[in-house]
Amino acid sequence: MSDNMTDNTMLEVRDIKRDYELPGGLFKPKKIIHAVKGVSFKLERGKTLAIVGESGCGKSTLARMLTFIDEPTGGDLLIDNKKVDTRPGHLTQDMRQKVQIVFQNPYGSLNPRQKIGDVLGEPLAINTTMSAGERRDRASEMLKKVGLGPEHYNRYPHMFSGGQRQRIAIARALMMNPKLLVLDEPVSALDLSVQAQVLNLLADLQDEFNLTYVFISHDLSVVRYIADEVMVMYFGEAVEYGTREEVFSDPKHDYTRTLFKATPKADIESIRARVAKKKATAAA
Ligand SMILES: Nc1ncnc2c1ncn2[C@@H]1O[C@H](COP(=O)(O)OP(=O)(O)OP(=O)(O)O)[C@@H](O)[C@H]1O
Ligand SMILES: [Mg+2]
Repeated sequence: MSDNMTDNTMLEVRDIKRDYELPGGLFKPKKIIHAVKGVSFKLERGKTLAIVGESGCGKSTLARMLTFIDEPTGGDLLIDNKKVDTRPGHLTQDMRQKVQIVFQNPYGSLNPRQKIGDVLGEPLAINTTMSAGERRDRASEMLKKVGLGPEHYNRYPHMFSGGQRQRIAIARALMMNPKLLVLDEPVSALDLSVQAQVLNLLADLQDEFNLTYVFISHDLSVVRYIADEVMVMYFGEAVEYGTREEVFSDPKHDYTRTLFKATPKADIESIRARVAKKKATAAA
């Protein structure tokens, strides 16, 4: 595995930690929150790691560290087998371009006064020497890739549905040809049928661009659909980590069993059945 020629690791995280310090008051000592307490994993190029766990367990904190928004308090982050210098001001442009994030609510990050074509062209305007015409071509091409059309180029964010806005957020994340996408609850705010469409789109884009995904979700049926590997987080720790088949067929930790219990039995049965079927077709 130390052979770099055959090592296909896209992302490696070693004992990564993040503490937050809450300031104290006159009679109140300051408090340290251990949001992520030392998480490790390795993810191959083109694969999807799903991260599940209850609210407050540290999923978004981990996502922010993976995308350099938050600096880890400890541990190492390796992208493309290169250790990332996460100190402010030390991050290279190259690293920044390799990793992009998609949030649950893209509306919050879309400028209401910016036309969609300009939203998509902006990363190119900032980071490349492309001409306005080249930027327009690339933005139009990306709109098509995410299932929107040229007629959408001159529209404003409020003129789109939630699902379309999430497509726009995905398109924008892809403008600089990233290798790794961190998706923090990207479909949680969408209707079920729209969720399925966006998940299918993500699966297609992953194949087309050989993208690696870290996919955060609280929905086990979504995880079943999208994940190659699954990590279950609980109070800042990874209590379960394995292939999807391992975690779904034989959860090791009490918390995972509780999580499964909280999901309707029919859902779990259908998830297991689908996993088994997929396994069988893969083996055939
Ligand atoms: N900037 C911050 N300052 C202080 N504490 C924070 C900060 N960000 C997160 N936390 C705390 O860290 C812990 C983990 O939060 P995080 O947002 O990572 O959870 P999460 O798993 O994404 O939850 P959810 O499912 O609700 O999105 C929580 O206790 C949260 O209150
Ligand atoms: Mg979160």
